[in-house]
Amino acid sequence: MTLQAELETILSTIADEVQKRRTFAIISHPDAGKTTLTENLLLMGGAIHLAGQVKARGDSRRARSDWMKIEQERGISVSSAVMTFAYEGITCNLLDTPGHEDFSEDTYRTLTAADSAIMVIDAAKGIEAQTLKLFEVCRLRDVPIITFINKIDREGVSPFELMDEIATKLALDTAPMMWSAGMGGLLKGIFDPERDRFIPYDRMSEGKEATSLSGSEIAKYMSADELAAFREEMELAREGSPAFDLDAYRAGHLTPVYFGSALRKLGVRELLNAVVQFAPTPRPQPSSVRLVQPTEPKVAGFVFKVQANMDANHRDRIAFMRLCSGKFKRGMRLKVSGSGKTIGIHNPTLFFAQDRELVDEAYAGDIIGIPNHGTIRVGDTLTESEDLTFTGIPNFAPEILQRVRLDDPMKAKHMRRALESLAEEGVTQVFKPQLGANWIVGVVGRLQLEVLAARIETEYEIKVSFEASPFETARWVTAEDPAELRRFVDAHRGNMADDRDGAPVFLAKSNWELGYTAEKWPHVRFSATRERA
Ligand code: G4P
Repeated sequence: MTLQAELETILSTIADEVQKRRTFAIISHPDAGKTTLTENLLLMGGAIHLAGQVKARGDSRRARSDWMKIEQERGISVSSAVMTFAYEGITCNLLDTPGHEDFSEDTYRTLTAADSAIMVIDAAKGIEAQTLKLFEVCRLRDVPIITFINKIDREGVSPFELMDEIATKLALDTAPMMWSAGMGGLLKGIFDPERDRFIPYDRMSEGKEATSLSGSEIAKYMSADELAAFREEMELAREGSPAFDLDAYRAGHLTPVYFGSALRKLGVRELLNAVVQFAPTPRPQPSSVRLVQPTEPKVAGFVFKVQANMDANHRDRIAFMRLCSGKFKRGMRLKVSGSGKTIGIHNPTLFFAQDRELVDEAYAGDIIGIPNHGTIRVGDTLTESEDLTFTGIPNFAPEILQRVRLDDPMKAKHMRRALESLAEEGVTQVFKPQLGANWIVGVVGRLQLEVLAARIETEYEIKVSFEASPFETARWVTAEDPAELRRFVDAHRGNMADDRDGAPVFLAKSNWELGYTAEKWPHVRFSATRERA
């Protein structure tokens, strides 16, 4: 084969594979049913054979997450990762975002790796605080959203009100794709008007066969009067809403709405079909030099999460890389933007519900785990050699700043290593004040401090506690003129610290002090987020 013909074959393979990828996340408020839905999506994809594996219930799962006792004690999932499964010939990469508000920073970064999202809403509660926050992050990047109104097997708010709430609170058009025939005790099933189908609900048996909406079969499930009333409701809803428009959905302006019950497996298949049918294939990704197309021949990707010590027996560290272009092959050598070093990727890993597997090939949209010893950090771009970095993977200014107190001062060096390594996961931040010896940790939520202390104790055998620091807030500082920045830093030594990359951070004792300082130094920029270059 000539070189040209070979390149064309590779390009067409890449284009085919990219068409078969859907990389998405689920956003929701805690308790809306994300875990239950995840389990059932994985079941549909044949990734797991028994529901109940995602939460720390099954033994295999428990063994894996033993290192994080808090996860079990609190019953929340604090580590976000990815699960890959196949459905109808499509490779689905489902990103797991922790729903707890204390872990929003991690969640935000995970969302940068998703091309679309499913928004799960509890039918009795409507749009809740955390859903709204996460939705806003999606909107920043015009991430398309499919809505799943869950728990219709319980009494809830009327479907009309829910649709209204989504439209007004999120300023988003809603297109009802299905309709709930009743709710709670009166739930009959769901209508699928497009396909002229009715999917009956039966509390006792899962996965009942669909029946035609217009045939006589439907009489088994409801009286003619009930059918007429539900039909009228559905028509009203459809007339009152814009029709589904694929482009408007893909641009993030319209959300198709599905109804169901994750627990009763009602409407879950329809939701997954919608993901496969409508959700976008891997999108082009913005970088420092250009928009990188998923079908380009060269490999490029970015790291949105690093998880240390997943296995207590090895000090391993997994960097989760989202591939953005090219055909990745095991053994490939890739350049890491942060360090400038080129490394061989010999053990790239794909994550399934219960297993990890070595992967030989991967394409844009895939998330691969790269075991390493600290050479890869959150925000790094990996390329075959090109000098580009993906943009838009932020660090957020912490909202709580605390001093770290060590019970045994002889262990200062160890503690520093522990803090740095945990900060590299990007879950907490560490700041080294320019004056004084006490490290300061910054977190977005209180629970993170408990997790941090527990992990330092179990993984590094060091006992630490936290105490109030004089600072309330932190901002990264930059200036066009390096001399101006130097003057600023010199004038504020007592407030200055370095983040883990050595970038200067201004620590303020109050928001008032921050505002006052910013006003006095108009040529210095104070940023609440910092993009890793
Ligand atoms: P989360 O990950 O979003 O936090 O929610 P999760 O799936 O853990 O679900 C929260 C609770 O809601 C669970 O009950 C779960 O069984 C229930 N649930 C989820 N989907 C549905 C549904 O469609 N219908 C009904 N009726 N309940 C649903 P739990 O009692 O808190 O926990 P568990 O003991 O069942 O695990």
